Amino acid sequence: MLEGKRIVIIGGSSGIGLAVARAALNEDASVVIASSTESKVRAACESLGTGACGRCVDLRSEESIASFFAAQAPFDHLVHTAGEWTRYRNSAGKDFSLEQAQAAYHVRFWSILLCLKHGLDKLARDGSVTLTAGLLAHRPSKGQALSTALMGGVEHLTRGLAIDVSPVRVNAVTPGFIDTEAWAGMPDDAKENLTKHQPVPRPGDPDEVAQAYLYFMKARYTTGQTAIVDGGRLFA
Ligand SMILES: NC(=O)c1ccc[n+]([C@@H]2O[C@H](COP(=O)([O-])OP(=O)(O)OC[C@H]3O[C@@H](n4cnc5c(N)ncnc54)[C@H](OP(=O)(O)O)[C@@H]3O)[C@@H](O)[C@H]2O)c1
Repeated sequence: MLEGKRIVIIGGSSGIGLAVARAALNEDASVVIASSTESKVRAACESLGTGACGRCVDLRSEESIASFFAAQAPFDHLVHTAGEWTRYRNSAGKDFSLEQAQAAYHVRFWSILLCLKHGLDKLARDGSVTLTAGLLAHRPSKGQALSTALMGGVEHLTRGLAIDVSPVRVNAVTPGFIDTEAWAGMPDDAKENLTKHQPVPRPGDPDEVAQAYLYFMKARYTTGQTAIVDGGRLFA
């Protein structure tokens, strides 16, 4: 059902986005991956092989997003998995920085709207947009108030956009702990401790969460929905 489809993956040079690209290629789609670091885009394209190409985009810049989409041929599905991790360490209280808090929204939130502003004309009317939230939206933890709001914002943006950009479908995936490059600095025993009380007692693999993105691309009667892919962490 994805055979011959063209899929643009914003954030596809690593982690979950790269896994979505791999999974889509396995179903004979073609993929365009995008992120801000040229060497990462090149390496990811090489690892993906035939059917994949890539281009740099800096999601903090509307100009960069506009020129990225101007260079694109029409496409069938848009996936957004881009995120920066460092900007979230911003808790409430005396250390709060409004500037940093606002900056945290550029890549994860505002860029979604900018991608639609500049990309929607090229997206098939029977196509889809799949966004990425995070489990903090449902299970807050200490020092992560901003991230909790941001993740919840993406889930609610999904519902609103499903109305606004109809008939294009818009859905979101909310991952739990997924063992991507982003966690490379964390020792294995810390990962194990974090996940051992989950019903599925281990970190998730990027290829496992990628299946939820593929589902939303194919599920032609599903819009405005969120899939939580967390090994049951929400209930642990
Ligand atoms: N992994 C998890 O456990 C987990 C859990 C919950 C939610 N999430 C969310 O899922 C998303 C993907 O996570 P991941 O683990 O796959 O992270 P990742 O491996 O770090 O991938 C993030 C991607 O975003 C791109 N990116 C970052 N800043 C960008 C910018 N300014 N412009 C364009 N691209 C940019 C990165 O490439 P460049 O560096 O080249 O720009 C990379 O391709 C993130 O939004 C994350 O918050 C992940």
